[in-house]
Amino acid sequence: MSNFIPIPTPRSGSPHDAVRASRVDAASSASPKALVNRNILAAALEQYKPSTNQPFRTEQLRILLLENVSQGAATQLREAGFHVDHFAKAWSEEELLQGIGQYHAIGIRSKTKLTSKVIKAASKLLVVGCFCIGTNQVDLGAAAESGICVFNSPYANSRSVAELVISQVIALSRQYVDRSNELKQGTWNKVSSGCWEVRGKTLGIVGYGHIGSQLSVLAEAMGMSVLYYDVLPIMPLGQARQVESLEQLLSSSDFVTLHVPELPETKNMIGAKELACMRKGAYLLNNARGTVVQLEALADALNSKHLAGAAVDVYPSEPKGNGANLFTGAELGPFADKLRQCPNLILTPHIGGSTEEAQRMIGIEVGTALFKYLSYGTSINAVQFPEVDLRIPAKPKEGENRQARILHVHKDEPGVLKEINTILSDENTGHFNVSKQYSDSRDGIAYLMADVTDVSEHDIGSIFDRISSTKHNILTRILH
Ligand SMILES: NC(=O)c1ccc[n+]([C@@H]2O[C@H](COP(=O)([O-])OP(=O)(O)OC[C@H]3O[C@@H](n4cnc5c(N)ncnc54)[C@H](O)[C@@H]3O)[C@@H](O)[C@H]2O)c1
Repeated sequence: MSNFIPIPTPRSGSPHDAVRASRVDAASSASPKALVNRNILAAALEQYKPSTNQPFRTEQLRILLLENVSQGAATQLREAGFHVDHFAKAWSEEELLQGIGQYHAIGIRSKTKLTSKVIKAASKLLVVGCFCIGTNQVDLGAAAESGICVFNSPYANSRSVAELVISQVIALSRQYVDRSNELKQGTWNKVSSGCWEVRGKTLGIVGYGHIGSQLSVLAEAMGMSVLYYDVLPIMPLGQARQVESLEQLLSSSDFVTLHVPELPETKNMIGAKELACMRKGAYLLNNARGTVVQLEALADALNSKHLAGAAVDVYPSEPKGNGANLFTGAELGPFADKLRQCPNLILTPHIGGSTEEAQRMIGIEVGTALFKYLSYGTSINAVQFPEVDLRIPAKPKEGENRQARILHVHKDEPGVLKEINTILSDENTGHFNVSKQYSDSRDGIAYLMADVTDVSEHDIGSIFDRISSTKHNILTRILH
């Protein structure tokens, strides 16, 4: 995996010094020319390196990674100087209640449940990384109220979904999934009737977001024309064209593919009426969310031959794990048995985003988010937290005091900013220069980031004590 984070200067005395020392030894056995080049590069990097932010009054930061989340992220976070404990399994609530109190960050997938009880026990926790798309496993409100920022990776698998859709378009058009199933049963059925090339056909995309727009480019590369419908006016890619209504898209497309989020407005968006609006012999593909299509109506449209085929990857209810005999009416509802009988219908078990590449991207994205939040306080793209970022402070010059970054999570009440700025400009504690400041609020929680220049260790202590004892304080950190 490529490096996804800048590696800060080593923290002296950390357990990872041994790892770094062995790297230095390896470097010193290189050729003299290589060494000179490396030294020049190192000097250049040293000159432009941002200051290494270290937490004030906090021991070495400890990260708990569960559910075998990205090995690459674990390695990079260790190399960045954090203590990382990496476990293959999810932890039960009991295990979390016992162990979570010693960690500053946690990385999970969907099986570890961070309930409000667990969050209460997580006295040092600053940040949660969900190495997946969903965040239902975390009590997001309780986390925000405790000043804990949560990250996930909602778009790392967009390309994987778009590629699956392209494969489905061709598979439906050539009916080869049915041919393959027949052959596995011993039936040779070589037919060309009702089988088509996709070149020159029209792909209608509903929802032109991360996935829809990638798909648009891939489809055009195969010679298809692309129409799309979206509630927002969106700039087309290539020769694609936005249409004004869903009906217009349905009646003008040979293939209709759905890429909208699950919202009250998209629930049952495609039912009997919309299917009737589609061209006879057209195809429907749903890789978005299971609630968007009325599956019984889809089965009727396929059985009556109004539609020539369909692909479905997502369902209104889905099995909790893998196993035999789980996709049945008894387990999920009548739609499952009805769908299994339909001609030229490709059913897949919610695999749209399930690729090795998507998993790796999730590791990079969430690992980077954890690193940046712990090291610089950056909360951009957080799930439920105010989003704040500032340019990373420059390294102080020789003999200059450090710059400190104040990170203050507080209740969103009037007068807090004034109070903090009064502390920073108080003649008794030191009249500090605030070089940059940024604040955002969300659902009653606010987050202030401020860089203060030329501060001594003593100044930082006094700022920390005064800000963290203000009335609306939830959590204060200072990096310096
Ligand atoms: N099958 C899978 O494994 C898989 C994997 C990833 C994502 N998904 C699903 O795919 C869907 C799309 O994901 P994305 O990352 O492209 O989302 P996105 O947020 O980037 O794009 C969604 C688009 O839909 C548009 N939209 C919203 N409501 C609409 C409406 N009523 N009519 C028309 N357009 C509307 C939005 O304006 C936006 O442009 C989501 O439902 C997501 O959960 C499925």
